[in-house]
Amino acid sequence: MQEQIAQIRQAAVESAQQAATLQELTNAKVRYLGKKGELTKLLRSMGQLPPEERPVFGRLVNEVRDELEGIWAKREQELFQLEEEQRLKAEALDWTLPGRRPMRGTLHPITLVINEAKEIFTGMGYEVVEGPEVEWDYYNFEALNIPPDHPARDTQDTFFFSEKLLLRSQTSSVQIHTMEQRQPPIRIIAPGKVYRADADVTHSPMFHQIEGLVVDEGITFADLKGTLQLFIERMFGPEAKVRFRPSYFPFTEPSAEVDVSCIICGGSGCRVCKDTGWLEILGCGMVDPRVLRGVNYDPDVVSGFAFGMGVERIAMLRYGINDIRLLFENDVRFLKQFGM
Ligand code: DAH
Repeated sequence: MQEQIAQIRQAAVESAQQAATLQELTNAKVRYLGKKGELTKLLRSMGQLPPEERPVFGRLVNEVRDELEGIWAKREQELFQLEEEQRLKAEALDWTLPGRRPMRGTLHPITLVINEAKEIFTGMGYEVVEGPEVEWDYYNFEALNIPPDHPARDTQDTFFFSEKLLLRSQTSSVQIHTMEQRQPPIRIIAPGKVYRADADVTHSPMFHQIEGLVVDEGITFADLKGTLQLFIERMFGPEAKVRFRPSYFPFTEPSAEVDVSCIICGGSGCRVCKDTGWLEILGCGMVDPRVLRGVNYDPDVVSGFAFGMGVERIAMLRYGINDIRLLFENDVRFLKQFGM
């Protein structure tokens, strides 16, 4: 019997020392000291001994049990420390590595141009307003004196939802909303998206315009010219040349188109200005009396001027971008070059 105890003790001590992880140690403990463990079994078999031997045997087993418990506790401590060290080593951070900088975005050149235009015009006393992109035919065409057979209404150019509902093809629709809602004096700009069924190298089906409208007593073409000249000077710098060309728009009379000397080639001719040295950036004119009458203004009392400019064109000129597609590809390497 004693020999059996010694054997079990020896085997248990070895298994404790050989356990390489806490899990192995626990398994070994169950094997020797658990409810069905070897030592426990031995203790249970005590009944087979003659009564006088039982106390000695019991004490012996209990001594071994206490000893083994102590060994296990010690080994447990060791293994715990070992595993803790390994864990810390695996989780170690190298504080000397350079940090990861947060990615910083930049404003899109279109946004930059709109912001700058807003600043220039609000500085002249204008208010910034907005209108809907999904628009009634009435505001996009009819009220702007564009008759049903006008080419601008062609289904090739305009995205229609139904006969009467469309995606606005020009921000000029905001002129009508504004005049319907208030009385002169009016001095507003309306930046926003417009849509046309047109997509090639120089056209995008969605692009941006900034509409302007001034209505008051005694407004003349000289006011229009002075305002736009000042705007262009502030937007492009004093070296930019400006050219007014007679033109036609159904909602203005007289009408003009405004060109800026090509900043990309300095006026000598390039692919952006199609070798003309000039780039058209806006249309403008005196608000047609028919349009004024349509919103119940009296053209004998008030007059006004309006203008609509293409933001993409201005952004290309302003930042020397020679391909309109760059503005819509959203390549961060391109966009990162523009300030906040
Ligand atoms: N809406 C015109 C276009 O998209 C641009 C325009 C021309 C706007 C003359 C105006 C204007 O306000 O007076 O081509």
